[in-house]
Amino acid sequence: MSADVIALIDRLAKTRSLTLEEWTAAVSGFSPAAAEYAAQIALSERRKVYGNDVYIRGLIEISNICKNDCLYCGIRHSNRKCERYRLQKAEILACCKEGYALGFRTFVLQGGEDPYYTDDVLCDIISEIKATFSDCAVTLGMGERSFESYKRLFDAGADRYLLRHETADEAHYRKLHPADMSFKARMECLDFLRDIGYQVGCGMMVGSPYQTEKHLARDLKFIETFSPDMCGIGPFIPHADTPFRDFPAGSAALTCYLLSLIRIQKPNILLPSTTALGTVDPNGREKGLLAGANVVMPNLSPAGVRGKYLLYDNKICTGDEAAECVRCMARRVENVGFQIVQNRGDIKNTKEQN
Ligand code: 5AD
Ligand code: FES
Repeated sequence: MSADVIALIDRLAKTRSLTLEEWTAAVSGFSPAAAEYAAQIALSERRKVYGNDVYIRGLIEISNICKNDCLYCGIRHSNRKCERYRLQKAEILACCKEGYALGFRTFVLQGGEDPYYTDDVLCDIISEIKATFSDCAVTLGMGERSFESYKRLFDAGADRYLLRHETADEAHYRKLHPADMSFKARMECLDFLRDIGYQVGCGMMVGSPYQTEKHLARDLKFIETFSPDMCGIGPFIPHADTPFRDFPAGSAALTCYLLSLIRIQKPNILLPSTTALGTVDPNGREKGLLAGANVVMPNLSPAGVRGKYLLYDNKICTGDEAAECVRCMARRVENVGFQIVQNRGDIKNTKEQN
C-alpha cells in the first residue's frame, strides 16, 4: 500500500477534511490493505462515540408505485413486470405494532414517489404512529416533495428524512436519470429538509453505471460539506427489467472502504450497513459493521409484499417474517462483536461536529 494513502487517511482523521484532489487520491488509493487500515481507524472512532452499540430501524416498504423512471431502479415507472402494491394506514400501523414488540424504536416508511400519498394521507399516518408509539422516531424515504410538503410532514411528527443524492456530479446524475429529473431539484430538496429541521440522510450507490473515482470523490466531498446526520451507501446491483441490466454490480470491498472514510470524516454519523451490501456478499452486512457502519435496517414489511419491493435482483430478506429477520440480524451483529440496542438511535452530538 502506498505511503500516500496512509498519510491521507491519517490527515482525514486529524482534520476531518480533504480537498477534492485528496479525496480523489484516497479513492484511487483503494486496496485491501488501505481498506484494512481505514477500517481500524473507523472502528476506533465509532467506538468512541457509539461504543459497540448498533441501532436498528424497522423498514416498512409502503409502496412500490413510482412516477419516476430512474434507469437503475427495479420499481421504475416503465417496468411493466413489477407487480405494484401500496399499503394502507391500518397495514402500516400493524407493522409498527409488530415492530414495537420486537424492540424497534424507529420506523422507516420508504416508498416510490406514489401520488396516492398526499400530504393529508401521510400526515394522518405519521401522526397516528407518533400518537401510538410516542417513544419512537419516524423516518421518511418518500423521494422529492415541495418545501411545504416536507414542512407539513415534519409538523405532523416526522423526525428524519432519507433522500440519497445518488451522485454529486451533475453530468453523472443525468446519465442515471431521465430528462425530467434534475440534480438541482434533488440538491434543493436536501436543503429544504435540512432547513426545516429534519435529521437528514443522503447517500449514493457504489459502482453505479458510468461512475468514476472522480465522481466518488465528489460524493465524499459533498458528504463532508453537507454534513448529513445519516448516509446510506450500498453497491449498485443490476435489475433485469431496467436499462442497466447488463452493467456489473458494485464491489462490497470498495463500499466498505468508503464507509470507513465517511466514518473517519464524521465520527458521529449514522451509517447503515445496507441490504444491498448483504446482497452482493453473504457477509456484507457484517463487513459493513466492521468497516464502521453502526445501523442496520431489518425488513418489517408485511410478508405478502416483500418480494415485490425489488429495486435490484437477488435482494435478501424477502422471504422472512419480521421476527425471523430480527433474530438473524441480532445474531449477525453479535457474531462480529456488537450489540443491538433498543432505543430511537438518534445521532450523538460530539464537540467536534462540523
Ligand atoms: N442497486 C442498488 N441500489 C439501488 N437503489 C435503487 N436502485 C438500486 C439498484 N439497482 C437505491 C437508490 C435509492 C435507494 C432507495 O435504493 O440509491 O435511493
Ligand atoms: Fe433478514 Fe437475515 S437479516 S433474514
